[in-house]
Amino acid sequence: MNDTGKRYIIAIDGPASSGKSTTAKMLANRLRYIYIDTGAMYRACGLAALEQGVSLNDEPALRELLQRIRIEIRYAGEGNRILLDGRDVSQRIREADITKLSSEIAVIGLVRERMVELQREMGAAGGVIMDGRDIGTVVFPGADFKFFMVADPNTRAQRRFLEMQGKGVSLEEIRSEMEWRDRNDSTRAIAPLKKADDAVEIDTSAMSIEEQVEWLLKYVEQT
Ligand code: CDP
Repeated sequence: MNDTGKRYIIAIDGPASSGKSTTAKMLANRLRYIYIDTGAMYRACGLAALEQGVSLNDEPALRELLQRIRIEIRYAGEGNRILLDGRDVSQRIREADITKLSSEIAVIGLVRERMVELQREMGAAGGVIMDGRDIGTVVFPGADFKFFMVADPNTRAQRRFLEMQGKGVSLEEIRSEMEWRDRNDSTRAIAPLKKADDAVEIDTSAMSIEEQVEWLLKYVEQT
């Protein structure tokens, strides 16, 4: 891969806590690529609608909001920071209310159109790892590499539970939130969560983060 110096587009899709973001972030560091967390963009949209009192049913207001807000991803050493109109919302968008809202807003066509447009601009130059639900199917169907990460539901709930410790959310609540979101994301009419036909599937249930990163790195370097 280094022979040509080509800077690839790498798509990583999959459900919540399947290992996408951590793997994508570490792989980007190793390859010196930029990492784009598209889920954070839907989360930021949800937060903007909530804060500005825009109902998800109000199409004109939503359209106006999407044109007006500025979502930026800053590349910090230890991970991306997400800015909404210049304000760092990286922590806020991980809270439970925004997690649910992100999945609700992500079913709306005009929201997806705007996000996909921004994501294509961000990734156009290559040298990018983008993770989400529809990167290999819709955003970059011609991506150089496509991975689809999965893990069993118990493992995923346990991982998210550890991440959310101290926030007063129980394992049971996390499990049912994830079930709801898996269903909502996979059954929506536009760009549902789905493995692209030509994506490589990786089950991370029994893998450590280091193993996941090494696996993907080897795959990219040997192909
Ligand atoms: O981190 P986690 O996997 O829990 O979620 P996320 O990747 O931050 O995504 C939050 C929500 O945004 C998902 O449940 C999807 O509904 C939506 N999303 C999407 O529709 N398309 C993407 N490319 C990324 C996220």
